[in-house]
Amino acid sequence: AQPRVVFSGIQPTGVPHLGNYVGALRQWVKLQRDEQPSTRLIYSIVDLHAITVPQPPETLRRRKREVLAALLAIGLDPERCTIFYQSSVPAHSELMWILACTASVGYLSRMTQWKSKLSLASSSTLENKSVGSKLKLGLFSYPVLQAADILVHRATHVPVGHDQQQHLEFARECVTNFNHAYGSHLVHPETIVSPVQRIMSLTEPTSKMSKSHPAQRSRILITDTPQEIRSKIATALTDSTPGISYDPATRPGISNLLEILSVFDPEGRTPAQLAQEFAEASPKVFKEAVADALVTGLHGIRDRYLELSADDSYLDRIEQHGAQKAQRSAEETMDIVKAAVGL
Ligand code: ADP
Ligand code: NA
Repeated sequence: AQPRVVFSGIQPTGVPHLGNYVGALRQWVKLQRDEQPSTRLIYSIVDLHAITVPQPPETLRRRKREVLAALLAIGLDPERCTIFYQSSVPAHSELMWILACTASVGYLSRMTQWKSKLSLASSSTLENKSVGSKLKLGLFSYPVLQAADILVHRATHVPVGHDQQQHLEFARECVTNFNHAYGSHLVHPETIVSPVQRIMSLTEPTSKMSKSHPAQRSRILITDTPQEIRSKIATALTDSTPGISYDPATRPGISNLLEILSVFDPEGRTPAQLAQEFAEASPKVFKEAVADALVTGLHGIRDRYLELSADDSYLDRIEQHGAQKAQRSAEETMDIVKAAVGL
């Protein structure tokens, strides 16, 4: 039987926020507990994806280390998982090229993320002819690199959020195209769907919490101090309706705080159940309960993060160890792929 291999990636965009943690990273840690010891867990810090947005080299280097330290701080075990920088394993880029040679341009140009970048560029440019020079090939072919990330490790399972479903579908398309041309050598990956909550911005609760939002108060970083957490929750935008009730459409701010409270509730109560519990509470009392739950839920992450961040040589060793494991895993696939293609 095919061994189970889980692959997932995160961009090195700095210390993860609460949305990243709840929506993605917490699942990675959970898989360590839930999966059989024989399942390989491969987690990559995808720095090649990050350079589709230009940034100063020292910023990228710093953010890679921040994400590495954060992954260890939330409890990923480098003995149990393979954790590495994507660019440390050249086979990712090599397979991308091979996949690109059987991937359809038409399919890629229909991808939602590309279409939104395209319409953004067209609307912000006066002269239409410069749209083509503003948009970069790397952004267009981003899903091919994503497919290579997954397929080079023969991943059988990929935990993804809703926004990434289309990209996983494209990865399966790449498998079909390659296998049709060269024989059944690549593995079709399956989605691991987890009941993932979307955490909304604290200052603008109708849009999701995101690092691209300019306001620092709009998001909680998993390394925030208890005081920072309390202060951000205290100033989170709510409404003037008295009492606490769960209704995301009409009370997005309160409902988002109920979602957060539910995520970190030791008794696992739903947002609606918690709303009943706090029905008569003042916003202040309710927010204090949310802040308490968050401070407890994130306890220890900050201290471990600071300790790890101070130890560059430890982080280097961990990454090199992960890169070696990932290299071996990728080379097995590349041997098969190259033989099949005749390279
Ligand atoms: P951002 O939106 O801050 O740019 P990314 O797009 O890099 O974050 O997302 C990294 C991971 O975190 C993805 O798996 C994504 O689904 C998840 N994620 C990001 N923001 C949220 C959010 N507000 N709520 C839940 N999950 C989120
Ligand atoms: Na994003």
